[in-house]
Amino acid sequence: MHSQLSLIKTIYTLDQLEIMPKPQIALAGRSNVGKSSLINCLAGRKALAKTSSTPGKTRSLNFYLVHPEDFYLVDLPGYGYARCSKKEREKWARLIERYFQNNEFLKAVVIIIDARLTPQTLDLELATYVQNIGLKLIPVLTKADKCKQKQKNAIQKTWQELLGLTESPLLFSSKTGQGKNKLWQILKSMALPGDIQ
Ligand code: GTP
Ligand code: MG
Repeated sequence: MHSQLSLIKTIYTLDQLEIMPKPQIALAGRSNVGKSSLINCLAGRKALAKTSSTPGKTRSLNFYLVHPEDFYLVDLPGYGYARCSKKEREKWARLIERYFQNNEFLKAVVIIIDARLTPQTLDLELATYVQNIGLKLIPVLTKADKCKQKQKNAIQKTWQELLGLTESPLLFSSKTGQGKNKLWQILKSMALPGDIQ
């Protein structure tokens, strides 16, 4: 049976942040990298999460309940959106930081990276931050449909070495569905480690 996703809660400010007592996996990535498209791809629905070719579309933490497995996927606002004010960027950073820290329900953070680009400082900073606070990191290289095989192999190897991983990061495409089943498998095994997938 297919897992279903439904949007349960949307959070804009620190005081709206409350404990959501189910396992959670956060999806982070630079603005416009394709986080919301990845959610839609996983859900098999085109318009569940709003997507846009203009960066900065998602400005809130969005909790999607995965049914019947009973855990949350949390779409985070994109970082590094240059056109919003410094004050607004700091507000986002504080919200994400507070959400990440001391959250016993947060099981892993997926970092969505554009497979077409050489490693970007902001991505590396977030990945290192996640590793340093002791959270599990799941790197995903998206927009793989736009890359040649040679480029894909090279970027996988680069990120694997940069992050000191035993496995190479997953190649993904919301357009073709490449990596979708494998990603579901990884998400479920991280959120519900006791269950047989
Ligand atoms: P913000 O909410 O603004 O931070 O952006 P986001 O990370 O949620 O990105 P979104 O899913 O809105 O996608 C941004 C743009 O990239 C859209 O034009 C998508 O159609 C496109 N896109 C996303 N994923 C893929 C992919 O796998 N392949 C291709 N070719 N395009 C993609
Ligand atoms: Mg989005």
